[in-house]
Amino acid sequence: MKVENPQVSIIVPTYNESQNIIGVLKSIRKCFPDGFSAETIVVDDNSPDGTGKIVEEYISDLKKFTKNKISIIHRKAKDGLASAILNGIQNARADTIVVMDSDFSHPPQIIPKLVSAIKQYQYDIAIASRYVKGGAVDGWSLKRKIISKVATLIARKSLGVKSNDPMSGFFAFRKNLIKGLSFDAIGYKILLELLVKTKGVKIQEIPYTFQDRKFGSSKLDSGIVIDYIKSVFKLYRYGKNVEKQEQRTSVRFLSKAARFFTVGASGLGVNYLVSLLFADGISNLWYIHATTIGIIVSMTTNFLLNKIWTFSDKDFSLIKTLKQYGKFVVFSSLGALLQLGIVFYLVDVHDISYPISLVGAVGLAAFGNFILNKKWTFKEKLWN
Ligand code: GDD
Ligand code: MN
Repeated sequence: MKVENPQVSIIVPTYNESQNIIGVLKSIRKCFPDGFSAETIVVDDNSPDGTGKIVEEYISDLKKFTKNKISIIHRKAKDGLASAILNGIQNARADTIVVMDSDFSHPPQIIPKLVSAIKQYQYDIAIASRYVKGGAVDGWSLKRKIISKVATLIARKSLGVKSNDPMSGFFAFRKNLIKGLSFDAIGYKILLELLVKTKGVKIQEIPYTFQDRKFGSSKLDSGIVIDYIKSVFKLYRYGKNVEKQEQRTSVRFLSKAARFFTVGASGLGVNYLVSLLFADGISNLWYIHATTIGIIVSMTTNFLLNKIWTFSDKDFSLIKTLKQYGKFVVFSSLGALLQLGIVFYLVDVHDISYPISLVGAVGLAAFGNFILNKKWTFKEKLWN
């Protein structure tokens, strides 16, 4: 029998949450209608208060009654919130993932809203947010409020993330978003890392009120704050590298195009000189024949210059080179036709003056030619 994947995976990290976790698991179950399949994955770091064992017992009592599965990952030691969440994500089977705390700070009634933002409204990330209209924090000391605000400000200003609450520990996302990404998972801030590494995706924020925990204590200490600063530096550098790579790509593309155009211009000179030479220099050919020779010679020099200089292709094996030459000639002729067509269109249809039309037509045809040769003659990716 084929086991179907659940519709949503909920990741719940725990460290010393024996007084909270069962209640949280129960209220998660209550927020989905019958027939909706969810899996809940508890990730416990060998909590000294026995959280892992309590969950284990709860699961075995429950098994017979529910199709909504709960499972637990036992890790050997307290290895940090972000890495626990990542561990849960790696084991999740659904395409939509929800991450939340296990101390009742995150009201489970918000989960369906997060899920439908992803599944129904096609957002990539949905964030339960304290800092949008309708959101709030209940029960925090002034000090904790200030730390949170400052951390949020740093993230928004230095990393350029768009969310109002990038420090939230309560969010949902589409799992295929993180394909191919690698995470540092330092300290607490997995959402921030996700936001930096997936910049540009569609984000929705859903207001909620963060309730400070009633039982147990927060694990956020000065170590976590230092981890936060480390992770901001790392993410800052990550962002800069991505920018640099993008810039390099565009610079490379433009510099190749510029070389291609330069070669084209040199071809005009070669064409002109060779034609004149054959018409009344070294021989007295009929001007049509002289021009034909001019065209052939300049196409050949264009081809060779582009092969060597523009596209740095050092492979001169005979068959390959001839094939490339053939394609290059075909594309050049296409370019000429395109140029004719565009000139005609601009002059006759749009009444633009001939000199201006010619500039536009030559430019467009040359660019088209560049693209065709880059892709098909010299087999490069269009954008690299
Ligand atoms: N497995 C595992 N390992 N779980 C952990 C660890 C760890 O090392 N550290 C913390 N947790 C679990 C806790 O059991 C709790 O369910 C959740 O992660 C959040 O930890 P808290 O210690 O309760 O954090 P908090 O309430 O101070 O911070 C919350 O609010 C912040 C917003 O300012 C968290 O939601 C943060 O993620 C959030 O940024
Ligand atoms: Mn908490």
